[in-house]
Amino acid sequence: MKDDTRLVHAGKDPEHHYGIVNMPVYRASTVLSPTLSAFKARAEGDRKYRGVRYGAYGTPTTFALADAVAGLEGGAGAVATASGLSAVTMALAAFVRQGDHILMVDSVYSPTREFCDAMLARFGVETTYYDPLIGESIEGLIRPETRIVFCESPGSLTFEVQDIPAIAAAAHRHGAVVLLDNTWATPLFFKPFDHGVDVSIQAGTKYISGHSDLVIGIVTARTEELFRRLKDTTFLFGDIPGPDDCYLALRGLRSMGARLRRHQESAMTAARWLQARPEVRRVLFPALPGDPGHDLWRRDFTGASSLFGVVLETGDEAAVARMVDGYRYFKIGASWGGYESLVLPANPKGVRTAAPWTAPGYVLRFHVGLEDPEDLIADLADGFMRLAG
Ligand SMILES: Cc1ncc(COP(=O)(O)O)c(C=O)c1O
Repeated sequence: MKDDTRLVHAGKDPEHHYGIVNMPVYRASTVLSPTLSAFKARAEGDRKYRGVRYGAYGTPTTFALADAVAGLEGGAGAVATASGLSAVTMALAAFVRQGDHILMVDSVYSPTREFCDAMLARFGVETTYYDPLIGESIEGLIRPETRIVFCESPGSLTFEVQDIPAIAAAAHRHGAVVLLDNTWATPLFFKPFDHGVDVSIQAGTKYISGHSDLVIGIVTARTEELFRRLKDTTFLFGDIPGPDDCYLALRGLRSMGARLRRHQESAMTAARWLQARPEVRRVLFPALPGDPGHDLWRRDFTGASSLFGVVLETGDEAAVARMVDGYRYFKIGASWGGYESLVLPANPKGVRTAAPWTAPGYVLRFHVGLEDPEDLIADLADGFMRLAG
């Protein structure tokens, strides 16, 4: 089945729901069993992981979303979580114990970093940050106690593309599990399990939901064994999204292919236009020819979403504020992947440790929404006039 067809048909079961085309919202805590033996049977074998047992294990609505995303990613099974961040933290927590070591990409989403430094460190798990461009040389950083190699490609602030197959091959030679935050590419533009990844993470809050109205995560595992470990972990942490949010995420998924094609086209238009501006030192977008990550992106990805960075010539914060504060459509806000355009200061300088960000110039992150690209470019052009004062 092609992805566009899967987007339309995955996670539906009309035959068991009066012919209703969408999976209904099942709200549940208690699930009744007719007999004691039926109650016990709910916790046995596959039913423990995929059956309806109790609300905190998920309902048919939760499973419909998880299964749809697992199918798109190409994994054995997926678990839906309460947020994109909890999808990350559950995946990390599932595979480490006291004394273990994690290799974490230096360009990672900042709260992932904070979780390692502030939380996992308290439980005796050590994290080493590595240069996103390290490639197969990551082997030199792997220790006997390294359990996880975590990737985010491209990095969601500075957009370096990682050589995932080379990193995964090195990690697997030493028995480490490869985790990838695949939110930028979505399961449509990067197939993690074809490139050596073991566990793929989606902040479903972004392009999957697509409408800036909910927070949710999905973690997909390459094998059944990894999936079960994830499921056990999320249950024990009590991490479960509400069924209404699962329903909305599934609804978003239906149009994700169409939205992403438009996002991609408009992002390319805006990025090319920005690249040609004298106020712009660099556009950080691997889909642009000439970007340092372009060759790897062409080799491994089938498309680009609409989140990219811009390094300005100026570092003058007051001038940048004049430009950004006056945008009509690029509103200032965290998150991305929704229908609307956004802008955010990136400030990678203060964050990095393994590969410090030294480029001069103010860094902004743009999310290109579904507005008409001509209006967006006019908005950007007006902004440069304000920048010039
Ligand atoms: C790359 C990446 N991963 C994970 C997350 C976390 O997602 P959520 O906001 O749903 O917790 C974000 C949020 O911005 C993100 O950018």
